[in-house]
Amino acid sequence: MPFRTVDIKPDLEYLVQLRREFHRYPERSGQEVRTAGRVYEELQKAGITDIRRNIAGHGLVAVIGNGGGPIVALRADMDALPIKEQTDVPFLSENDGVMHACGHDAHIAMLLGAAKIIKQMEHELSGQVVLIFQPAEENAPIGGARPMLEAGALDDPKPDAVFGLHVWPGLPVGQLGIKAGYFMGASDRFTIRVQGKGGHASMPHETIDAALVAVQIAQVLQTIVSRNLNPMDAGVVTIGKIEAGNRYNVIADEAIMEGTVRSLRPEVRNLLERRFTEIVEHVAQSMGAQAEITYQRGYPVLQNDPAAVEVVRSAASCLLGENALPEIEAALVAEDFAVYLEHFPGAFFWLGCGFHDESKNYPLHHPKFLVDERVLPLGAQMLAETALQYIWQKGR
Ligand code: NI
Repeated sequence: MPFRTVDIKPDLEYLVQLRREFHRYPERSGQEVRTAGRVYEELQKAGITDIRRNIAGHGLVAVIGNGGGPIVALRADMDALPIKEQTDVPFLSENDGVMHACGHDAHIAMLLGAAKIIKQMEHELSGQVVLIFQPAEENAPIGGARPMLEAGALDDPKPDAVFGLHVWPGLPVGQLGIKAGYFMGASDRFTIRVQGKGGHASMPHETIDAALVAVQIAQVLQTIVSRNLNPMDAGVVTIGKIEAGNRYNVIADEAIMEGTVRSLRPEVRNLLERRFTEIVEHVAQSMGAQAEITYQRGYPVLQNDPAAVEVVRSAASCLLGENALPEIEAALVAEDFAVYLEHFPGAFFWLGCGFHDESKNYPLHHPKFLVDERVLPLGAQMLAETALQYIWQKGR
């Protein structure tokens, strides 16, 4: 148990109201105009004056505290998704076809709640807390973290550590998931265009059947994970879309496939890409077709720093108790917070937002996804507690 903890409690009503407002007015990646404006207003209302705006689009960075001590950054993402909401809440999205289906509405409210707590403790703070309100997290493969860093968002003050969280419906409210080392996956994206030669269905010998080539490629690609990858390593090759042909009696001249490749270690990421390219090119060639590959590297592997993980764990046991930290596995979902962790030590954690009534739980990005709002004060407290414990421990 650390010798001191944050004793200011967040204002539940304030957090609920804010989160519902953000939920009602969701904005897509790169379009977070209203959201960023409201964040600015709330930071000002909290008495925070050191605020930079319009970083890499609509990003904001605010600083609380004084120089000289440790510097710790907290990040929330602000964007919503092009999904038509199917919940029946009274604060339903008013931006048709756009929805906060990934819980970023909750993340913004939590960080604003943490900002208020930290601001109230500023006089006893020997260090600085940097608040990052980041746009465009969902805009893979570019994202919002990299453009923010390239725009100098964290050049001055430069943090000693960066922390962030994601609401997680797979855990109930009151639990938290974190792991040192590799924690979330690298996400790469591909398109394959197979060029064959079309013709009459009854004369296959005069054609190169692009549909059949695509099917072969799809099957052989599945041998990468089963035959090339060390069974102790994690990796995924998923083809999410195949399109070919127009009519039952015409052999397709072209096929298009799209998908994603996930991995949990940089070496595995390289292996998967190398085998992917070899297989696609050679299978196409062996059947007389040509394949054109577009392979985009998306967010990197998210790697948590062990010392930073200990700070989160200690904050969590203060706030939530020892049983709040179940053993969890890494997951191959991707998060552009990984980019900060390529430049600064730090940690990312999942904060359980699942309802105890499990029939109300839907996965992230589902049109019925909602958080149990009791997670809001916990998130605000966890962020504040983590930042302050980092400063107290490091400044000792
Ligand atoms: Ni998200």
